Amino acid sequence: MRIFSGIQPTGRKHLGNYIGAIVQYVAGQDRGEAIYCVVDLHATTVAFAPAELRELTYDTAAILLAAGLDPTRCLLFRQSDVPEHSELAWLLTSVTAYGDLQRMTQFKEKSAKQRELVTAGLFLYPVLMAADVLAYQADEVPVGDDQRQHLELMRDIAIRFNSRFGEQFVVPDARIPEVGARIMDLQDPTSKMSSTAASEEGVIYVLDATAQIERKFKRAVTDSGEGVYRAPDKPGITNLIDILAAVRAASPVEIEREFSGAGYGQFKGAVASAVIDYLAPVKQRYAELRGDQAALEAVLSEGAARARAIAGPTLAKVRDAMGVGAPR
Ligand code: TYM
Repeated sequence: MRIFSGIQPTGRKHLGNYIGAIVQYVAGQDRGEAIYCVVDLHATTVAFAPAELRELTYDTAAILLAAGLDPTRCLLFRQSDVPEHSELAWLLTSVTAYGDLQRMTQFKEKSAKQRELVTAGLFLYPVLMAADVLAYQADEVPVGDDQRQHLELMRDIAIRFNSRFGEQFVVPDARIPEVGARIMDLQDPTSKMSSTAASEEGVIYVLDATAQIERKFKRAVTDSGEGVYRAPDKPGITNLIDILAAVRAASPVEIEREFSGAGYGQFKGAVASAVIDYLAPVKQRYAELRGDQAALEAVLSEGAARARAIAGPTLAKVRDAMGVGAPR
């Protein structure tokens, strides 16, 4: 079984990325052939600073390694080092409906936020994402809930391509965790936690200092009434229960039981200290890894060479099926 996922080198990685995606990447190493990619080309679809992009790519690679990715047990590389991704993205546009791209929630949300330029790249973002996965014939794609729609489109693209040009691609399945697939903002628990949130107070970054994490949980918005249980009218407490369940690898029901008589203050304190303990070793390993940029570069370039050996043959086959390029 082959697993593929990608993560953007934009902004700082937060607890939503960590619980929703990175934890599943690490687990994927034991479940199959795991391939992970820092998608720097995707980061160019919104405003970005060239001088910063490379640094952010190393930051992201270091977070992934600190979380437990092991280059001897998985493949980790930088998207732009494997030009097959962008070529395949173009080829896939021939079976992608304009109307489907227009319907993408993330495109609508992100384009509304752009102040200057809504790029064509932002519109085509899901096609490049489809190319990332399909180039490796991956079976499974671990992602958070916000990527569900992109994964559905990716499947549609694969199915349409296969029926038009013959069976070329494995049609991949999304793997979305049961708990923690949608971690919400601590200040506004009806919006997902995101590095583009209006305020940083509701976002726990993986590299936040202990005191910051403590403060953010203490100030987390809770709901009126009392009782630590999940309910649609208690989005704040529900989110904190999910966070604690995810970091303890417990079920939300177990958390509700444990804190059934607890007040909100006590419960928030418990969530804060669990998250602090959970992130502490990651922060420490990150500091060590990020200090050696040459070693990070070596991991990424070796990964890219191995990735090309997989993506190259897919592209040769696809070009042939479409009748583009010289015959093989
Ligand atoms: P990115 O970098 O925006 O997000 C990385 C992963 O984090 C998950 N995530 C969350 N999970 C739970 N709660 C949250 N609040 C939260 N916020 C983010 C995302 O679902 C994602 O899994 N488009 C992808 C990058 C990508 C990709 C791919 C993914 C490019 N090519 C191919 C899979 C396969 C993205 O959103 O990355």
